[in-house]
Amino acid sequence: MRSVMKKDYIPFSIVFNREVAKDYFWLRLEITEKEHIDIINSINVGNFATINIEGFEIFFKRPFSIFDFDPYNGTIDFLYKVIGRATLALSNLPQGYILKVLLPLGNSFPIIENKDVIIVAGGIGIAALIKLAEILRSKNNKIEFFWGIKSKENFFFSTRLEEISDNLYITTEDGSLGEQGLITNSLYKFIYQHSKDLSNFIIYGCGPTPLLRVLSDLSRIHRIPSYLSFENKMACGIGTCQGCVIKVKEKDRDTIKYKRVCYDGPIFRGEDVVYEL
Ligand SMILES: Cc1cc2nc3c(=O)[nH]c(=O)nc-3n(C[C@H](O)[C@H](O)[C@H](O)COP(=O)(O)OP(=O)(O)OC[C@H]3O[C@@H](n4cnc5c(N)ncnc54)[C@H](O)[C@@H]3O)c2cc1C
Ligand code: FES
Repeated sequence: MRSVMKKDYIPFSIVFNREVAKDYFWLRLEITEKEHIDIINSINVGNFATINIEGFEIFFKRPFSIFDFDPYNGTIDFLYKVIGRATLALSNLPQGYILKVLLPLGNSFPIIENKDVIIVAGGIGIAALIKLAEILRSKNNKIEFFWGIKSKENFFFSTRLEEISDNLYITTEDGSLGEQGLITNSLYKFIYQHSKDLSNFIIYGCGPTPLLRVLSDLSRIHRIPSYLSFENKMACGIGTCQGCVIKVKEKDRDTIKYKRVCYDGPIFRGEDVVYEL
């Protein structure tokens, strides 16, 4: 569902902004003007927001998945990884600092029931998937949660991850936690073990494009429906500049169209996405 409310940047104040693992931060914001609280009620899982990090010579607003939200307390939460100028500036902002946020943006994940759900997160892609897993688990789905990170230093939320998944699979590139290697290796093994009957499975994923590409391939080869959230670089973030497009097959399977990740997505059916070579 896409919100049809007119959108403006709304001020939020920082409740906390804490490092939860190396370079990974958990940011909680509280709405400052209570008349805007309905905006939090209109969030659906999978939506994102753009945050205006003013005063640091940062030209574009930065997009982040809404990791959690609480309409009762008027709060929204983000998980972010420090990778460049904006995220570094964000990581240094103190409690009480006012940030202007545009939300909710983009489409949302479909919520299904009674399925075997494979959730695959690459790095900070987990931000889009924790709330989703929580909701899906409450709808009688079995959750197989895969998360690939670089090292044990990047691991956090162990209790919460155990709570939202029936089975949790962690891989680290340096082998310091879970299996060594990429999360796709664990996923291949899992699919192989269940290859006799994959008819009740569905895949949800978020992370770097190479990971999403593997998920799209698995989805096509094994006929497992998939919903993937893309994190392409964005400029305007509201559908006007075409800076974030990806190629997507139309229903007739022959026509390929450019779709804007910020406006038509960020979630697309994995089997429909056409990747550049
Ligand atoms: C819909 C959406 C949801 C997102 N959700 C989250 C989230 O929940 N948490 C989070 O930490 N990040 C998320 N991102 C990515 C986040 O927007 C970028 O990390 C952020 O804009 C980087 O800003 P920066 O100024 O710190 O880095 P920059 O200085 O802009 O970039 C630093 C380096 O990272 C590369 N880079 C920048 N953005 C991306 C990107 N999107 N993908 C791959 N490489 C990139 C640049 O090319 C450069 O090499 C999301 C992106 C999208 C589109
Ligand atoms: S970022 Fe401008 S159209 Fe998506």
